[in-house]
Amino acid sequence: MRAMRAETFSGYQGLKLIELPKPAVTKGKALVRITAAGVTPLDHTILSGQFHGSKPPLVLGNEGAGVVEDGGGTDFPVGSRVMFFGAYGAFEDGTDSEWVAVRKEDLCLIPDNVDDVSAAGIPVAYLTAQVALTLAGFRAGKTVLAPAIGGSIGNAVTQLARALGAKHAMSSTTNHAKAEQAKALGFNEVVDTSSEKLGDGVRRITSGYGADIVVDGIGGEVLSEALGVLALGGSLTTLGYSASRKTTIDVTNLIVPQASIRGLNMFAQPKASIRTAWKVIVSLLKSGAIKPIVAKTFPLVEAAAALRYLVEDRPFGRVVLTI
Ligand SMILES: NC(=O)c1ccc[n+]([C@@H]2O[C@H](COP(=O)([O-])OP(=O)(O)OC[C@H]3O[C@@H](n4cnc5c(N)ncnc54)[C@H](OP(=O)(O)O)[C@@H]3O)[C@@H](O)[C@H]2O)c1
Repeated sequence: MRAMRAETFSGYQGLKLIELPKPAVTKGKALVRITAAGVTPLDHTILSGQFHGSKPPLVLGNEGAGVVEDGGGTDFPVGSRVMFFGAYGAFEDGTDSEWVAVRKEDLCLIPDNVDDVSAAGIPVAYLTAQVALTLAGFRAGKTVLAPAIGGSIGNAVTQLARALGAKHAMSSTTNHAKAEQAKALGFNEVVDTSSEKLGDGVRRITSGYGADIVVDGIGGEVLSEALGVLALGGSLTTLGYSASRKTTIDVTNLIVPQASIRGLNMFAQPKASIRTAWKVIVSLLKSGAIKPIVAKTFPLVEAAAALRYLVEDRPFGRVVLTI
């Protein structure tokens, strides 16, 4: 089978199109013919040799969608359309290939109203967003901020919080054109940080209240500024570093509102939390309350260009490889 494999963790040129044997179905696994694979910043982190635990050569791709060909049992009969995320593309070969033997516990049936390309970009973003909101104690009426409306985490948290009854589901962008795009797509609580400070925007939208919950995948100055908008007893979850792994914080932003900061690692989540999150996500997908956004697709052989487009061009929506 064809696969795009990182032969070395030396940047884009480390990715090579190769032939590998089709994986065998073993106990507890289903053979999935991959139709589409989500491209994530994790692929970039691994490819630049900055992720703990990954070793080359490695087929990248942490999430995907496809069709069950064998071993799915009664839960995932042959021909079922499935989406999944797990250790794939990080600790074992991933979805940038024609087939993957997937642990059945990682599979989720794709609702009929969602196509494979959209589905391929759902698992990482929406599971992370839902788990983050749950761990932060989200419930209807809370005020939520998730920076970067065009990014996968910012968009998924905003869509989920809004669909689940947040009082405010706020986001941001550093790019004026993306702020306009967000407005056109119906995201009306987005701070355009090219013309307004993140904290000023959040205070304007919430009439001075701030955010009960911040979910931040950006790091750097964005994290530092987002800490400054926490409401009394609020919390910030840090889970990514698209801008920077390093930041400086003003500790009074935690002390005065008695707020807290926590980390989130999706590879460390119990399977039960993932199952619970899937239930919420699937139900909202079926009702149309959340709508995944795909910016662009690339063929498998252009995996390097796809990753470069995601990280360097910062599109609004997901980048997906069609297999
Ligand atoms: N801990 C976990 O388990 C977990 C799970 C999922 C993801 N993550 C991590 O979370 C992070 C975000 O992932 P994602 O999929 O949402 O990324 P993404 O889709 O690539 O979006 C990142 C966004 O960050 C903004 N950005 C990039 N560079 C910036 C900078 N220098 N300053 C300010 N904003 C900047 C851009 O928005 P604008 O252009 O609009 O400003 C961009 O669209 C990544 O580091 C990813 O690896 C971690």
